Formats: sequence, C-alpha cells, structure tokens
Amino acid sequence: MSFPTVRMRRLRRTEALRTMLNQIQIQPSNLIYPIFVDETITDPVPITTMPGYFRHPLKQVIDEGKTALEQGIKSVLLFGIPAEKDEIGKGAYAKNGIVQKAASKLKAQFKDELVIIGDVCLCEYTSHGHCGIIKEGEVQNDETLELLGKTAVSQAEAGVDIVAPSAMMDGQIFTIREFLDDSGFEQTPILAYSAKYASAFYGPFREAAESTPKFGNRKSYQMNQGNVQEALREIELDINEGADMIMVKPALAYLDIISLAKASFDVPVVAYNVSGEYSMVKAAALNGWIDEKTVINEILTGIKRAGADMIITYHAKDVKTWLK
Ligand code: PBG
Repeated sequence: MSFPTVRMRRLRRTEALRTMLNQIQIQPSNLIYPIFVDETITDPVPITTMPGYFRHPLKQVIDEGKTALEQGIKSVLLFGIPAEKDEIGKGAYAKNGIVQKAASKLKAQFKDELVIIGDVCLCEYTSHGHCGIIKEGEVQNDETLELLGKTAVSQAEAGVDIVAPSAMMDGQIFTIREFLDDSGFEQTPILAYSAKYASAFYGPFREAAESTPKFGNRKSYQMNQGNVQEALREIELDINEGADMIMVKPALAYLDIISLAKASFDVPVVAYNVSGEYSMVKAAALNGWIDEKTVINEILTGIKRAGADMIITYHAKDVKTWLK
C-alpha cells in the first residue's frame, strides 16, 4: 500500500496526536549532573570555556545537591580540583581529598535521596596531567591500577554510591572490584567508562578541571576515533571484569557506538554528553544562531533514541528551564 491510501501526515496533524505518539521522552531522573568542586576557591568561579558553568567551593556542594534534587535529578558526578598536584596523584586517594570531602558532606545531608557518583581517575591530581603514573615518558598500566583501586575505596568510604573509573587502564574494573570487595564495599556498583575515545570534545573540561596533559596526549590509553569493534571489546571486557553499567563517551560523534552497545549487551548504557558538546550549543545560542532549549531537547532525545539509558550532561543543571 502506498499514497494516496497511505498518508503519513495523518498522525502528525495535531499537537495532541503528536504527543500521544511520541516514543522518546527525556526524564530528569535519567540525567546525571556533573559538579566541579575546587579546593582552592571560596566563591564559585565561572568556567570560561563552558558558559553558564562554574567550579564550586566545598561549602557550596550542598546547594548544588539541592538544586539538582529540585529539578528532579537523582544523581551527581563529582570531579575534584585539588590544591596540590604531584607525580602520583595523591590527592585522588587522600582520605581528606576534595572529592572525599564533598561526598561525605553530600551523603550526610541527603542520605540515599541523592546518588553520588565519583569519577575515578588521576589526571586532575597529577602534576603532568596524565591519567596514570609516568615512567620514561609512558603511562604505566599495572602500577596505576593500585592507585585507582585505592581511589575507589577512599571514595566509597567517604560516601560515594557509585564509582566511575575513567582512566582507560587495562584491568581497572577487575582491580577496583577486588579492592572494593576486600574493603567491604561489595554493594558499591561500578560504572565503567568503557568506550572512551581520545576526543577534542574534552577540551573545555580540561580547562574546568585543570587536567590538560603537560606533554603528549591520551591516545595511548583512550580509544582511536576510527574504531568500532574495539569499543565492543572494551565493553565486553569491562562487563567480564565486573562492570555494573557501561559508558560511551563522547556521545554525539559516537551515536553508532551507543546504539551498538545497547543492542549487544544487557547492562545499562550511559552516554556522556561531554563538555565540548555543551559548549558548542552554548556558543551558538549566545550568538543567537540556534534556539537553545529546542536544540538541547533534540540532542538529548537523539542520544536516548540511540540507546542511552542515562545521560551525563551539563544541561542537567537547569533541566526545568528547557525540558519540553
Ligand atoms: C577524566 C575525565 C575527563 C572527562 C571526564 N573524566 C577528561 C579527559 O579524559 O581528558 C571529560 C568530560 C568532558 O569533557 O565533559 N579522565
């Protein structure tokens, strides 16, 4: 059957019909709100590369948690900017590290009402800005694992509900699962940044978190943009090592990977709508070139339609102002 018996426009005629037939709807409870907590400041500092986004002092994290909950957001992702950095990223696993302090404040205030996710990586804490220990100019895999394990445990001790390793070291999920279980945190889930591509879309974040590598780049550990099978292999390995949820990152240039991940595996799929994706929208909107609110809905709907169950997005912070 075809035209004129078939008329696709029949079901698009009125707003009510269109709403009735709509399949994908963004829900605030599926969005994750990233928070930058900076040990060196006492007032919020605007992040110039991410218009509308701030680094927050420790004393403000409760307000951030409240804002999130008021908007229907259930979860925050913590990033720390420490006062001091060193060769081996001690601040990442310090008992009184900035993320640990932020997590314990949030946990004390909100109990289990808010899901606290900790990004487990060393790059914000190392003087060289790489995600692992450096020897002879190379990021050492196995020596880094122990530090990631310690970071995960110290975050869990501080009140983090879910640990999210993003260093892209081989065996990091296995090691972190073992460290957590040995410390009595067998109930703490791992959200694995499994398919994390080496991407220029992280540029604005690196200003926000002061984590730009001082030499070289992250291509020896983050994935090559041109590859597909490798992403599925990374995800499969992480699931075998004990990942409870997996992530594809960035989102927009990798919608095919999100889609494949969803079709291939039975675990929840998280997509990271990264800093560069946020900043492009903001820049165009500030110039009056696009309708910001409609574009945010369209982008997040697209990421969800591709197969993401949850989306980490900087747009989460004011979801009430743009959600249709
Ligand atoms: C830490 C980390 C990064 C991001 C999340 N966790 C930076 C990087 O890998 O360089 C990027 C997030 C974003 O761009 O929004 N490794």
